[in-house]
Amino acid sequence: MKQQIVVIGSSNTDLIVKAPRIPKPGETILGGRFIQAAGGKGANQAVAAARAGGQVSLIARIGEDAFGAEALSGFQADGIDTAWIRKDAVHASGIALIVVDGQGQNSIAVAPGANEHLSPEEVIAAAEAIDQASIMVLQLEIPMPSIETATRLAADRGVPVLLNPAPAQALPAALLEQVSILTPNETEVESLTGIPVSDEASARRGAHALRDRGVDTVIITLGPRGVYCLSSSLEGLVTGFSVQAVDTTAAGDTFNGALAVALAEDVDLSEALRFAQAAAALSVTMEGAQPSAPLRKTIERFLADD
Ligand code: RIB
Repeated sequence: MKQQIVVIGSSNTDLIVKAPRIPKPGETILGGRFIQAAGGKGANQAVAAARAGGQVSLIARIGEDAFGAEALSGFQADGIDTAWIRKDAVHASGIALIVVDGQGQNSIAVAPGANEHLSPEEVIAAAEAIDQASIMVLQLEIPMPSIETATRLAADRGVPVLLNPAPAQALPAALLEQVSILTPNETEVESLTGIPVSDEASARRGAHALRDRGVDTVIITLGPRGVYCLSSSLEGLVTGFSVQAVDTTAAGDTFNGALAVALAEDVDLSEALRFAQAAAALSVTMEGAQPSAPLRKTIERFLADD
């Protein structure tokens, strides 16, 4: 049976320009193609989880506009339960302006719009979805009081919380204590702990600093170098897969969505990391956020061919 995964977070439409490089402040450069694709960290993680084999409910807020309608039909096409997605009659759907350079690296600015108005009351109204979940997945593109409410509801029900602390911001101590799995990247570790992460030794220090604050499992994503994992059963660098990157947008989101599925299926942590790393590696070989999230059969074929 498919495991229930509840994702609470943002939905954006990504307006993407491919360019030879990221422009400097004050600079205009001529780019290449323009691409419009469904994005938003919450929605990307929900879509990645659904394609990786989870039964996903998404709690989100979209505008009553064409971008929101397009996002919603995409979620439905991926079999996501959209009963808890609210349409905001006042605020527009979230938008992200993204430049992707020749190496697949990106620079992103988000106008949150309706995402900024996803309230704690909306989260409470969706408690039924949380009741049924094997795992809750959160990120930081919605208001902090809603994230704190969601975490409390999950803790009350014994539902483990996977928090992807992106984009980087400070987190309340009580919130971190209720997080089961934290998945920061290098920048987010530095913003949470003050420890700059540049190699395995500094990743280890950052992971221990976060575990000391009450998180059960810390998984620091290190891009092509893999992840640094610290849990009660596993510690160390877990290398990933080497692929030719076309667009790294949402690689972290795909990792988190696939990781949630594997953990909900109760597979061993090192196997769950391998599954999530394979999904993320596949995602960087394709353009766009949600368009690049792989199906489970593609992830399994990739792992079998490795
Ligand atoms: O993580 C990538 C996502 O960040 C993009 O899809 C964009 O919408 C922003 O939320």
